[in-house]
Amino acid sequence: MAISKALADELEKRRTAALEGGGKEKADGRHAKGRMTARERLEALYSEGTFQEFGLHAQHNTRHFGMEKKSIPTDAVITGTGFVDGRPVAAFSQDFGVAGGSLGDIHSKKICHTLDHAAKAGVPVVGFNDSGGARIQEGVGALAAYGQVFYRNVQLSGVVPQISVIAGPCAGGAAYSPALTDFLIMTREHAQMFICGPEVIRAVTGQVTTMEEIGSAEAHASVSGNIHFIAEDDADAVRIVHRLLSFLPSNNMMDPPHHIDPNLSIADDPALDDLIPENPKTPFDCREVIARLADDGDFMEVMARFAANIVVGFGRIGGVVVGFVSNQPTVKAGTLDIDASDKAARFVRFCNVFNIPLINLVDVPGFLPGITEERRGIIRHGAKMLFAYASATVPKITVIMRKAYGGAYLAMCSQDMGADRVLAWPSAEIAVMGAEGAVNILYRKDLAAAEDRHARATELADEYRAQFASPYLSAGMLFVSDIIQPRQTRSSIALTLRGLLSKRETRPPKKHGNIPL
Ligand code: HXC
Repeated sequence: MAISKALADELEKRRTAALEGGGKEKADGRHAKGRMTARERLEALYSEGTFQEFGLHAQHNTRHFGMEKKSIPTDAVITGTGFVDGRPVAAFSQDFGVAGGSLGDIHSKKICHTLDHAAKAGVPVVGFNDSGGARIQEGVGALAAYGQVFYRNVQLSGVVPQISVIAGPCAGGAAYSPALTDFLIMTREHAQMFICGPEVIRAVTGQVTTMEEIGSAEAHASVSGNIHFIAEDDADAVRIVHRLLSFLPSNNMMDPPHHIDPNLSIADDPALDDLIPENPKTPFDCREVIARLADDGDFMEVMARFAANIVVGFGRIGGVVVGFVSNQPTVKAGTLDIDASDKAARFVRFCNVFNIPLINLVDVPGFLPGITEERRGIIRHGAKMLFAYASATVPKITVIMRKAYGGAYLAMCSQDMGADRVLAWPSAEIAVMGAEGAVNILYRKDLAAAEDRHARATELADEYRAQFASPYLSAGMLFVSDIIQPRQTRSSIALTLRGLLSKRETRPPKKHGNIPL
């Protein structure tokens, strides 16, 4: 018994037609612009020969506008599984070359099947978004089809990592599927993401704007905070996906891919002693500290361009994958504002659901003072950081490098907010508020009567700092576990982390907490 030639030929004919997608001309057009086709993106994502497609023979079921006579190969989305660095990953890739990558019923079913598979198998899912949006000919059915995708994005949230690449248009409500995922990577030149485009905005509000201003990768990376990474092109987007996956577990039941170093003793790093300027008011770049703490200086910064007053990202210490959260003294003096709070809280919650220990590096003078901040709700947004840290059960290690003042000290994960270990450098200043602010309140009359107000204020501030902000005071009250030389930080964190890897912390059962949104 063998398959007849006719049957075998029929399969090959159909397969070839489906694999052609939108055809050579459209593919050539893409290549001329330095872009990949939908299929090429998956080829770049997966190790060679590992992609297994499902739904190659899918066809649309649109029955209006003469569509019943049209063929839409794969129904404009390629779906399946494959391997990245030896680990299984599910993916879908919308094919703009076929019906503009528009999403109808079968297209949606293919994406949903991919997401369902990712949930069942416990594997990450990567989605390449490149689509004209809801297939107009399918009407409200296409909206329902989007709803099915959104619903699953939410079910998968916190179960498996979801990564979205925005590699073309992603318009209207369609943008909400990526927005529901963990990380968004957007290609610099050819991607746009928006709810209402410039034309709609002008028609409805009279405001004049450009796509560059509201929907470009640049705008989303630096202003709206909707995306996490800008990619130079499709190949770069895939490179970012690979790097991101190298830090993430496949699902919430697994540990991240630690590369545990069997050697428990890590040498001191004297270079760390020189990174902090002697003058407490002189800023330093916290990324230099992170680079010295992370193995091989390998740090993957997340949302580098948005709310740069806080720095978040992934690295390893002694082989253990960690999430770094650090105040950045070079931007807004490292204060916490609304955007920084949102950015940090979301990152902390991601690390917590995916079992990634947190390293918190503190040099924070407080929350950013200002009318706009107060009126836009810094209380509600700052509370997200408190909420995120206090509800995180992963190992949490806090290093107070310099200032740790007021509510911001708590918001950066002090011991009382659940840090498992708090280390301080001798340069640490831990107090209810900054010395200058404190003396202005405590010695108002004294300062008013002083001959040289400035000199007196400086004298009193120095006194206050020495007396009340000293880390030895906090260590004496056990708010700080130990005061260490900066050079000992990496070895100290590495040992602490190793001792905390088996940490288990249980909380009372509940549906979910009510994080201030
Ligand atoms: C059906 C579509 C389509 C759509 C594009 N096409 N979008 N078909 N439904 N939504 C088809 C085009 O008819 C064309 O088919 C092919 O895809 C390529 O489109 P072009 O317009 O030629 O490409 P380009 O010039 O590059 O412009 C891309 C575009 C434009 C800017 C995305 O196509 C566009 O504006 N499309 C409509 C966008 C939109 O309004 N979508 C609905 C949004 S509402 P042929 O056969 O000529 O090659 C939405 C709601 C989701 O999505 C809500 C979820 C809750």
